[in-house]
Amino acid sequence: MKVTGKQLMSLLGVVPLGAYVVAHLWTNLHSLGGAEEFDAALTASRHHPAFLLLEIFGLGLPIAIHAGIGLKLILKMNPNNLKYRGLRNLKYFLQRVAGLGVLLFLGAHVLKARILPAAAGTVETWQGMHEALSEVPTFAVYALGMLGISFHLANGLWGSAMTFGLTVSPRAQTRMEWVSGGVFVALLCMSGFAIYGFRPFQ
Ligand code: HEM
Repeated sequence: MKVTGKQLMSLLGVVPLGAYVVAHLWTNLHSLGGAEEFDAALTASRHHPAFLLLEIFGLGLPIAIHAGIGLKLILKMNPNNLKYRGLRNLKYFLQRVAGLGVLLFLGAHVLKARILPAAAGTVETWQGMHEALSEVPTFAVYALGMLGISFHLANGLWGSAMTFGLTVSPRAQTRMEWVSGGVFVALLCMSGFAIYGFRPFQ
């Protein structure tokens, strides 16, 4: 069986990337418990010696492949949103805009919250996130980043179900649209509460 580039991209978008987004937001919900609980949860998730290898090959590589194929699709796209104003057409366009936004957000986020602390021999802390999120530009970047990731993943699940032939009939695609909407709201709630847990501006 031959796997197309689109299928590879779609699979990587769901596992490991989508699964990681959910797990990562779940860990970050510990922000609600305050500095001690969050810092302990973050340190515990880093203790395994294979953590760095997993980060590079289990996340960095899949995202590079997904984003590489994604950028190719974006360069080839031919939107017709002015001519056809349907919701699905709009989602097609927003999926690509959100993909570009996620790429920019991830670059800044990984640099500030992972690479720079690691280079200084530490990890990100609750206090560090509280201070960063209390600056208006950083808060805006995180709020937009969370909106973009929540939309891209939730709408991506809808696209992925089609890519793998799981939703062939129009009825199945409409049903999946409700699932995708539910996932969008759930991801927005998780990221909203995680940000609120760092008590920005308080
Ligand atoms: C947190 C990181 C990301 C996750 C979880 C994710 C997830 C997904 C999923 C599940 C799909 C659906 C695939 C399909 O339609 O079969 C998708 C589509 C797409 N992704 Fe991502 N993605 C991420 C980052 C990115 C980045 C950084 C880009 C770079 C620009 C990107 C560009 C795209 C594009 C263009 C599509 C549309 C493919 C199509 O409809 O033909 N994604 N993504």
